[in-house]
Amino acid sequence: MRILSIETSCDDTAVTIFEARGGIRDAVFKILANNSNSQIKIHIPYGGVFPALAKREHQRNLPLLLEKTLKEAKLGQSRIQIFSNDKAVNVRGERKNLSPAKLIDLIAVTSGPGLEPALWTGIVFAKELAEKWSVPLIPANHMEGHIFSVFGKGKGKFKVKKLKLPALALLVSGGHTQLVLMKKWMRYEIIGETVDDAVGEAFDKVARMLGLPYPGGPGISKLAELQRNMLLKRTDIFLLKNSSCSPRRAPKSFQKHISSAQSSEITLPRPMLHSKNFNFSFSGLKTAVLYLIRDIGKLNEKIKTQIALEFENAAVDCLVYKSAKAVEKYKIKTLIVAGGVAANSHLRNEMRKVAGKKIKLLFPPKELTADNSLMIGIVGYLNYIKNKKRVPQPDSIKATGNLSL
Ligand code: KG4
Ligand code: ZN
Repeated sequence: MRILSIETSCDDTAVTIFEARGGIRDAVFKILANNSNSQIKIHIPYGGVFPALAKREHQRNLPLLLEKTLKEAKLGQSRIQIFSNDKAVNVRGERKNLSPAKLIDLIAVTSGPGLEPALWTGIVFAKELAEKWSVPLIPANHMEGHIFSVFGKGKGKFKVKKLKLPALALLVSGGHTQLVLMKKWMRYEIIGETVDDAVGEAFDKVARMLGLPYPGGPGISKLAELQRNMLLKRTDIFLLKNSSCSPRRAPKSFQKHISSAQSSEITLPRPMLHSKNFNFSFSGLKTAVLYLIRDIGKLNEKIKTQIALEFENAAVDCLVYKSAKAVEKYKIKTLIVAGGVAANSHLRNEMRKVAGKKIKLLFPPKELTADNSLMIGIVGYLNYIKNKKRVPQPDSIKATGNLSL
């Protein structure tokens, strides 16, 4: 099957065309063309995504991206004129009897969760195409997409591999922070989530307080990494001076010293760390940074890096601690970490420790941590197969900002 997938839930407009075959536990995919247009530059002055602007940009980008993607995918060596009433027109403008319906078999589009004005642009566009080309249209859940992004690749072929169940997915993005339990394949139970801000949102807001650009995750992570390495180096010198063993093989008493040396003088709270459930809270952590900055007054680069490190440590501690608790309680065999914040190196390293040697740990490749249409296509195809090729009436497909898994 050839699938065209569209993603417009936030500030990335993305279109993919790929081939897919196989069942829901052994599907094989081949990417033909994969394109996206980030709107980050446009939203920078607002310090976050401005929905009306996102909608306008998606409307502008979609036809251009579709044309580019169709061209790159070389479907039937022909260039399809998207909104003409003819079936298809080739590069030289000659009419060919190449029905797009024969070139694309299924369209998948994100229906939620996300910003509703942004989601609608993708849905309306997909509906128009599906009608013109007489192709079935399937809605896809953005969060399910993030889970399945771990199987994807930036280009070429890839497979959905059989995972040992139960699996646990830590989904961390600008809009969500969830722990999702999968006891059966493609059946989800949200066992924990944020009660206020998403972790990515906290990264973005703290970054803004530190004068770093939107989106804030990469900037904070870079500063934190600098500070962490600097402190580690200092600890190494300390250890070399005081012990004959190398830092890696340092005795427990020294290990304790390493972690306290890494956490600098600034201390931030780890909200809900010891709550009896699997929920998170990041609003208090963000406010703690705000008060800290207010109390310090003028920030210099050194203090900024210290705050970045302690904030990243605090946020990651909360994510990792609750994930570890859930791994233990549900006897998890596969651990998935996905969504924009899954690009964070410190989070990746700490989750490696949670997984150890016995639990299979999966992250998306770095190019698929952020929003993309490939993940939408994967779950569109899998659900199409799972539902025995039944799709909802196009009229019933709606944008649902808070769509749940
Ligand atoms: O999944 P995503 O691309 O979009 C949403 O669905 O929200 O996630 C975007 C979020 C932003 O908040 C961004 O700051 C965060 O992911 N992010 C990071 C990193 N890279 C992106 N957070 C922490 N560390 C990173 N390296
Ligand atoms: Zn996302």
